[in-house]
Amino acid sequence: MGPGPSDVPASVLLSMARPVLGHLDPVFVSMMEELKGMLREVFHTANEMTFPVSGTGSAGMEFCFANLIEPGDEVVIGINGVFGMRMAEVASRCGAKVIKVESPWGTIITPQQIVAGLEGHNPKLVAIVHAETSTGALTPVEEISRLVHDAGALFVLDTVTSLAGCPVLVDAWGVDAVYSGTQKCLSCPPGLSPVSLSARALEVASRRKTKVQSWYLDVNLLAAYWGQDRVYHHTAPISMNYALHEALRLVLEEGLEARWQRHAKSHRMLKRAIEAMGLSFAAQTGHQLWQLNAISVPLGIDEAVVRRRLLVEDGIEIGAGLGPLKGKIWRVGLMGATSTEENVRRFVAAFGRILKGTGSDCDVEAALSACTSE
Ligand SMILES: Cc1ncc(COP(=O)(O)O)c(C=O)c1O
Repeated sequence: MGPGPSDVPASVLLSMARPVLGHLDPVFVSMMEELKGMLREVFHTANEMTFPVSGTGSAGMEFCFANLIEPGDEVVIGINGVFGMRMAEVASRCGAKVIKVESPWGTIITPQQIVAGLEGHNPKLVAIVHAETSTGALTPVEEISRLVHDAGALFVLDTVTSLAGCPVLVDAWGVDAVYSGTQKCLSCPPGLSPVSLSARALEVASRRKTKVQSWYLDVNLLAAYWGQDRVYHHTAPISMNYALHEALRLVLEEGLEARWQRHAKSHRMLKRAIEAMGLSFAAQTGHQLWQLNAISVPLGIDEAVVRRRLLVEDGIEIGAGLGPLKGKIWRVGLMGATSTEENVRRFVAAFGRILKGTGSDCDVEAALSACTSE
């Protein structure tokens, strides 16, 4: 129940025990086509260039920036947590002049801030994190996307934590480059980064004046393997692709709408219990993530002691706060297969017992009674 990786269903784990085929084997190649199709469904996109990059979510981030940025390009990056900071760092390593739009951690990036960031600049792209895993805030993207396109820029979105846990509508929202990770709401082991590029983004990448500085992540080369030519580029991590195939099959079997609702229900149940206990959520009201729940640490409580006891006594892992939120929040992940009513009840019972044991006067009975399904 930390910020990822989430629990992985047995059939996904078992899929990795299958014999390893060659990366150009016709059976593997037809599986690649199915993978691309399922990823398009999950991203809600018709983008041809949709596939899993070999590497974790950060590889997807590097893929987007390395392909779209040429040295000297201006880019606007929204920063409201760790992963916005990482985007700014990656973009600057690609040679971009980074214009930072910063919000206090726990709050969202607003359209007004993007307008201010765009003023006086001519950026190639604007990038934001949809679901900030380090704070638990979900930034609405539709209005921001419109502003970005009005300014003639590309819109890049990090959906590492949001994909398959809440709506991610790549085409309807006009997202030009999107990346995710396998280990959050897709409930697959870490190791691949699903990405998708719009035709506009692909054109920008193919008309570059300079070579993409990363050979490994160059979409113009990767397209020859993931497209129809099937030219060897690098040896695909075969077993991870099996795992993602099975994880996506499970996501679509459940149905995206049903999966989002399951995440919403578990979040609401946890929130009712936490508030009944007398504690509160840390992220901005109205923009709290369903899959990553940031709980404010009450005054006088050592958050690390509570976390350690949860792990040792109850076998439950949760996350700590990072950066300015270090020591101030706990991060409870309800992602993918982990997002169940049973897990919420187990967590609330253990968390309440341990908090009481550390001298807090929280009302555990009230929290447990609030832990009911709707
Ligand atoms: C929002 C967000 N972006 C990017 C990443 C980086 O992904 P990875 O750790 O898989 O490289 C993470 C990881 O937690 C994340 O939560």
